[in-house]
Amino acid sequence: MATQRTASGGPSGDSGAKLPDPVPDRLPFGRAASVIAVILLAGALFGYDQGVISGALLGVQKAFAVGAVALEIVTSWVTLGAMFGSLGGGYVADHFGRKRALFAAAALFIIGAAVEALAPNVPILVFGRLLAGFGVGVAAVAAPLYAAELAPAAQRGRFVSSYQLAITIGIFLAYLVDQALAGPGGWRAMFAVSAVAGVLLALAVLTALESPRWLVKSGRPDDARRNLVALGAENDADARLAAIKAALRAEHETASWSDVFEPRWRTPLKIGLGLAVLQQITGINAIIYYSDNIFAAAGFTTPAAQTAATTWAIGAVNVLATFIAIAFIDRLGRRPLLIAGLIGMGLSLAAVGFAFEQSGGAVKDAGGATGVVTLVALVVFIISFAFSLGPVTWTVINEIYPGEVRGRAVAVATAVNWSAAFLVSGFFLTVVDAIGQAYTFWLFAAFCILGLFWVYVGVPETRHRSLEEIQASWGAPTARR
Ligand code: BGC
Repeated sequence: MATQRTASGGPSGDSGAKLPDPVPDRLPFGRAASVIAVILLAGALFGYDQGVISGALLGVQKAFAVGAVALEIVTSWVTLGAMFGSLGGGYVADHFGRKRALFAAAALFIIGAAVEALAPNVPILVFGRLLAGFGVGVAAVAAPLYAAELAPAAQRGRFVSSYQLAITIGIFLAYLVDQALAGPGGWRAMFAVSAVAGVLLALAVLTALESPRWLVKSGRPDDARRNLVALGAENDADARLAAIKAALRAEHETASWSDVFEPRWRTPLKIGLGLAVLQQITGINAIIYYSDNIFAAAGFTTPAAQTAATTWAIGAVNVLATFIAIAFIDRLGRRPLLIAGLIGMGLSLAAVGFAFEQSGGAVKDAGGATGVVTLVALVVFIISFAFSLGPVTWTVINEIYPGEVRGRAVAVATAVNWSAAFLVSGFFLTVVDAIGQAYTFWLFAAFCILGLFWVYVGVPETRHRSLEEIQASWGAPTARR
């Protein structure tokens, strides 16, 4: 089987007539910066929310004298909010536009952060977490969708990968803020700081252009044309507008939720959902969440040393390795990154499993071989995830669906991603209890191997193809089911 498969997917590689890309190859600097600002701030919200809780938990526990179950709810209900928010975000992004959806996300996030910071009791704190999570979910759908629609085809991977970069920066910043504000009452400030990203996102959205693709879909071709001109298509705005209209004509008049599950879109649906689940069942959040414990086992004895190791070895490495994806996703393509990353993730997870197996369940010999293997393997795992499944999942999910159902299909895939994240982080300890650390890491490694085979045969290359071209490939009668 050829490794250079294309989005046409069919054995003949026939994708029908070639459609021009509606977005100019080079955006004016200010426009590109505004799209990137929106995507970076939306990702930062996501990441900050993900990272902040590890440092805030201790303060919350002291302030309200609560037990483990309440803390678990405070931790995880943000994910629940995000799951529902991503479904709602798809609807808002399709009906009211990408910009309004992003503005609503920022508003929800600011209100959620304020409620969290001022919460007089745990139920109100949980309510704040749900609201902020809802905002994160809406942004998680609307921002990459917006970036994918506004990006020139040849740079789309890079644009959407900036979203992943921002998630990792958000996690890293949250770790730093947590360290800086550690102490009694600091948790309120930790939550309050997250409102800043919400305010900045709202401001960035106000100056951003609405997606021409969405404007055409909503019957506003004149506005779409104006925005195409602003995006640098002064000379050929009509041709580009025609390209968008042609793609839309090939679609249904109105799309409903059930259209997402139509047989003809089954291939992209399977790819999107498969990547969404694979990204989580290979253990990223279990490791991000429990890295303190693992570093403790690898020889970092004090809590301060563990937090510092998590901040730099996980947080900073995650940010830096994402640049590998940004550099190569449009040059090498999505498939090579996924394949290389899954191999690195699988091998490093297997190594962590062996380290735990050798030490009989816990790595006790601080500076010894097993501790070092665990530390190195963890860093290799984070690097491998950061240049592959992290950014490529969000990129592919946002480029494979036809415009007609794009918002909703992305929402379904995002909600499935959050559900898988919720399940993995919620059941990680239970699974460790049942089968032990070694087998738990080997289970994650086994999912990497399965994922590798599936990606090899089932995920097509989408690099350098316009969204319309990718969409046309699924519509072909020969499209794989
Ligand atoms: C995932 C998150 C994860 C993050 C880590 C994202 O792509 O969706 O669940 O925490 O990457 O960098």
